[in-house]
Amino acid sequence: MEVQIVADPLAGGQTGYELFATALANESRVFGLATGSTPITTYDQITASNLDFSECISINLDEYVGLAPTHPQSYHSFMQEHFFAQKPFNKSYVPNGLNMDEHDETARYEKLIAENPIDFQILGLGQNGHIGFNEPGTPFDSITHRVTLTQSTIDANSRFFKAKEDVPRYAYSMGIGTIMKAQQILIEAYGESKAQAVQQMIEGPITEQVPASVLQHHPNVIVLIDQAAAGKLKGKY
Ligand code: GLP
Repeated sequence: MEVQIVADPLAGGQTGYELFATALANESRVFGLATGSTPITTYDQITASNLDFSECISINLDEYVGLAPTHPQSYHSFMQEHFFAQKPFNKSYVPNGLNMDEHDETARYEKLIAENPIDFQILGLGQNGHIGFNEPGTPFDSITHRVTLTQSTIDANSRFFKAKEDVPRYAYSMGIGTIMKAQQILIEAYGESKAQAVQQMIEGPITEQVPASVLQHHPNVIVLIDQAAAGKLKGKY
C-alpha cells in the first residue's frame, strides 16, 4: 500500500484529481466510482478540469434498495449532481435500487463488471472499516450482493435523511471480491472519525472484521488520507 498524507480534504481533492488524470493518461477506460462525502473534493477538482471521460465507462459501487434513481438521496442522484452532469461518461452504471429481485439485480451487475473490468476504482472508508457497503464480517470473496446495513452505518448516513426511519435498510453493493479485481484502487479517508479504521486498514491484521484490511493483499493501492485520519497510525509514512 502506498500511503499519501495530505493536509486536509481540499489538498486530498487535488491529489485525487491528479491520480484520475494519470489513470486516464495511462489508458484507464473503466472507472469504479464511490459516493459519500469523502470523494467530493476529488470530484470537484475533476469536474472543474478539462479531463474528458466521454469515451469511458463508470460503474458505481453501490445503491440503496428501494430508492428510485430520482430520489434526492439515491446514489444515482449523488453521482448526477457531483460528477455526471458536468462530466458525462459514455456509459454510467449504478445498481438499480428499484429491482426488488435481488438475484436478478446482483447477477446482472456482476456480469456487467465481468464484461467491463475496472481499471481504476475509487473508494471511501466507513468508520467501521467498510468499503462499498461491505460491512464487517462480509466474506473477502463476496461478489455483488444485497446487504443489510448495520445500525452504525444507518446512524452515520441518517444525516442525509429527514428522519432515521427514512434511511433504507438494504443496499446493493459490489462485493469485496469484486472490488479486489480492479487493476488499481484509490481509497480516501478524511477526518478524525476515520482514524481508527485507517489504522486498522493499514497496520492491523487482515481480517473480515475490518473489510478494508483486505486491501493489504492488493498489489496496486494508494491510500490518500489527511493528517486527522492519519492520527492513529503507529508507523511513519
Ligand atoms: C457509505 C458508502 C460508502 C462510503 C461510506 C463513507 O456507507 N456506501 O461507499 O465510503 O459511506 O461515507 P463518507 O465518505 O460520507 O464518510
